[in-house]
Amino acid sequence: MNRNEWVSSAVQFAEQHEARSLEQLKALLRIPSVSTLPEHAGDVRRAAEFVAAELQRIGMEHVRLIETTSPEHPAGHPLVVADWLHAEPGPDGKPQPTVLCYGHYDVQPAEPLHEWVSPPFEPEIRDGNLYARGAVDDKGQMWMHVKALEALFATGGGKLPVNVRVVIEGEEEVGGEGIAAYLRQQGEQMRADVALVSDTEMFAPELPTLCVGLRGMIYTEIEARGARTDLHSGMYGGAAPNPLMALAEILTQLEDREGRILIPGIYEQVQAPTPAELAAWSALPFDEESFRTHEVGSPALTGEPGFSVLERLWARPTLEVHGIAGGFTGAGAKTVIPARATAKVSMRLVPDLTWSDTYERFRQYVLSLCPPGIELDVRLLHSGEGLVLSTDNPYVRVATESLRAVFGKDTVFVRGGGSIPIVADFVQLLGMPTVMMGFGLPDDNLHAPNEKFHVANFYRGIQAIVRFLGGVGA
Ligand code: BES
Ligand code: MN
Ligand code: MN
Repeated sequence: MNRNEWVSSAVQFAEQHEARSLEQLKALLRIPSVSTLPEHAGDVRRAAEFVAAELQRIGMEHVRLIETTSPEHPAGHPLVVADWLHAEPGPDGKPQPTVLCYGHYDVQPAEPLHEWVSPPFEPEIRDGNLYARGAVDDKGQMWMHVKALEALFATGGGKLPVNVRVVIEGEEEVGGEGIAAYLRQQGEQMRADVALVSDTEMFAPELPTLCVGLRGMIYTEIEARGARTDLHSGMYGGAAPNPLMALAEILTQLEDREGRILIPGIYEQVQAPTPAELAAWSALPFDEESFRTHEVGSPALTGEPGFSVLERLWARPTLEVHGIAGGFTGAGAKTVIPARATAKVSMRLVPDLTWSDTYERFRQYVLSLCPPGIELDVRLLHSGEGLVLSTDNPYVRVATESLRAVFGKDTVFVRGGGSIPIVADFVQLLGMPTVMMGFGLPDDNLHAPNEKFHVANFYRGIQAIVRFLGGVGA
């Protein structure tokens, strides 16, 4: 059997087993592996064990959970790793390349629960979409890798056409500290000729897409403290500082009304996209008004003047406040001056704007805004670098050919506004070419209520990955 026949029969196998692959994915989606909530640590581990068991069953070797808990990283979630490194050399006698398949099995919290049409951890199919937390980000997409490997093993007499390493983390949604430490200590276990990541989106339905850039980020917490304890606002209002007001004052000075970041020096380091990239972006099928109404749903779009929406999302740094806590938020009224208040603030970064530099500037600037009577703490919760991938390698060509075989169309190259912290390490520390081939859709509601995965894209993704794995070797 030559390679083409192998790939064809693996694609056929995948098609014949679609219903079972979907049922298995539903079983995985029933496990609420919310990495940020300590009460779900057991569920996170169960999801890891579920994935490991299937990797073992399909024929991967050295399947194991790697613990990531350490003194610097208490309560880490396990990595699932495996490999299969026995691909037969090509006709020229050269060894086959090694592909690193990366994904994550952890998910974001599902709240607000009442906005879900069906409960987040009871997967349900409606109108050709699979609804559940993690359906597309990233359990469903990670499962495509597992199912593609299964199809190749099953039709190849227990062999694969390329060498494969698998690393699936359980902390992507909380910054990926565990996998980053593992990569620094045991990088050889992850080294491959190319990394394949399916954790991004297609630009539009039916439009095959490779993502060639991600934003980096710093995620911070600002704590403001005033009086020793909460105070009666009548007895002390007029004399005691108010930490919530202090935070409000600070937060409004981080950005101007139009969305320009006011932290000194931030824009000096920003690397602009090339003219070729900008030209490619303006040729993408993007309608600002339909984006506003269908995806955002606000009366107007906001953001830095002088840049297109896609530039603002993909190539400009931005700053967001995620939550403010403190004082009295129950029903009714309570006259209190809170003793402390906190705000969660993150920044999205772009190449050349490093997280360490940005965090230092952010911290200094926030501290400089501290009003009288208030003590401030600024803490970094997690961070990651932004990146732009090179597309000048044979793996990108194999990916576009695989996508053409499945979708019958040319691939578009886009960036993503989101972050996958470990990808910068793949590229910068391990020097691995990386292919980000994702099958989500713009309206899949990542991190939001009613997250979904278009079932047809789940199946097409498996086929494209079969073709990619079958196509990178000789
Ligand atoms: N899969 C997303 C990232 C993504 C989404 C990239 C869409 C490109 C397009 C990932 O799971 C994610 O949500 N990452 C977090 C990372 C953070 C918590 C460190 C993010 O971007 O907020
Ligand atoms: Mn993801
Ligand atoms: Mn995510």
